[in-house]
Amino acid sequence: MSLISFLIALAFVVLAQGASVGQDERLRYDNYSVYKVKFETQEQRSFLKKFVEDRDNFRLWQETKDELHLMISPGAFSEFESQIQKTNVSAKVFIGNVQELIDSEDEANLKASRDGSFGWTKYNSLAEIYEWLDGILATYPTITESFVLGQSYEGRTIRGIKISYKANNPGVFIESNIHAREWITSATATWLINEFLTSTDELVRNLAENHDWYIVPVLNVDGFVYTHEKDRMWRKTRQPSDISTCVGVDPNRNYDSHWMESNGASSNPCAEDYGGPNPFSEPEIQAMADYVSSNKDKINVLLAFHSYSQLLLSPYGHTDEEFPPNFDDLMEVAKAYADAVESLPYGTTYRYGSSAGVLYFATGATIDWAYNEQGVEISYTIEFRDTGRYGFILPPVHIIPNAEEALVGIAALIDKCQELGYLELK
Ligand code: ARG
Ligand code: ZN
Repeated sequence: MSLISFLIALAFVVLAQGASVGQDERLRYDNYSVYKVKFETQEQRSFLKKFVEDRDNFRLWQETKDELHLMISPGAFSEFESQIQKTNVSAKVFIGNVQELIDSEDEANLKASRDGSFGWTKYNSLAEIYEWLDGILATYPTITESFVLGQSYEGRTIRGIKISYKANNPGVFIESNIHAREWITSATATWLINEFLTSTDELVRNLAENHDWYIVPVLNVDGFVYTHEKDRMWRKTRQPSDISTCVGVDPNRNYDSHWMESNGASSNPCAEDYGGPNPFSEPEIQAMADYVSSNKDKINVLLAFHSYSQLLLSPYGHTDEEFPPNFDDLMEVAKAYADAVESLPYGTTYRYGSSAGVLYFATGATIDWAYNEQGVEISYTIEFRDTGRYGFILPPVHIIPNAEEALVGIAALIDKCQELGYLELK
C-alpha cells in the first residue's frame, strides 16, 4: 500500500468511527450537528426515539412537547435525512459543529484558570468544587456544615453543604448536576452558596438567614468527572450493565416512584433515559433517597436543577390526566419564579406546568419521588438556560446571569410558599 492510500484509509477509519478520541483522550465532536426535529404525533416521536436509541451516530439531547433535539455525527447525515423524509417530520439544524462550542468552552476555562482555580467565569471540575467547598466550610464553621450523601459507583464521595443561620428554619433542598453534562447547574448551585454566605443585599440576607439550605452541587459525581475528562456530552451514571455493553443509567429515572410506568423511561440500557435494572440500582440515587427520607421532616421545598429549556416542572411525571392535590398552588409558586426572572433586564422567560403536561412522561424522577413518596409538597425541576442556541454547552459568560435569575426566582418562589403556608415546621 502506498503512503497516500494508507493515509486515505486511515482517515477513513477515523471518520467512520464517528467521535474520535484525540491525544488528550477526550471524545471529539467535529462537525457533529444538533437538530430540532418537530413532530406532530406520538407515533413519530416514539419512532424517532427508537431510531436514535442505541446508535453511536445519534444522541438525544432534549425533548419538549413537540420537539426532539438530536445530535448527529457527520457520517450519519444522509441516513438522518432519509429518516426525516420517511417519518414526514421537519428538522432544522441549530448547532452546526458541536466541537466548536466545546473548544471555545475549553478556551474560556483555560483563560479563567490562569487567574486562580475556582470561579464563575468558567466551569469548575469536581476537584475544584470540592476544594472550594472545603474553603467555605473552614471560613464559615458555625453557619455551615458538611454532609455526605454517600459513595458513587466509582467510589467518589457525594458531598453536600448545609447552611443554617439559626434554629427552626424551614428547609430547602437543592439537588444539582444529577445529569452529568448539565454543567450550568453546579455552577449555579455553587454561586448560590457563595451569595448566601457573602452577599450584603437585603433580599439575599433574608433568604439565606431565614431558611436552612441543603445543597448538593454535584450528585452524579462519576458522570460529571467523565464529562470533564472523556465525553462532554455524557448524561447518565457510570455503572456498567449486566445485559449490555452500554454503560450507565439515567439517574433521574431511577427513583422508586411509578418506576418504569407509562413509558416514562426506557428499558434499553443504551437509551439516554434508561431507568436501570431496578429502582435505586444506582448507588448515587439510593444515597440521595436515604438522605432525603431521613431528613424529610426538615425539608419543605425541593428543587432539582437541570438544563436546558427554561422551564419549571412540577409533579406529576407519570400522568397528564391527574394532577397533584395542590396543583394550583404549585402553579402559583412557579409563576412567582417565572415573573421574577422576567423582571430582570436579561429578557429571559420561563414556562411552567406539570412535567407530564409540559414535557413528556418521565417516571422515577427526583421531584416526583420526593412529592409522591416523601410528602415534600413543593418540589420542582428547574431547567435553566438556554432554549437551544447552545444547549448543554452554555458559554461561561452566562453563568452569573443564569445564577442571578435563579436567585431572584428562588426568592420569589420561597416568598410565595411562605404566603401559601408551605414553610411551617413539620
Ligand atoms: N429534563 C429532565 C429529564 O429528562 C426533566 C424531567 C422532568 N420530569 C419529571 N417527571 N420530573 O430528566
Ligand atoms: Zn437534566
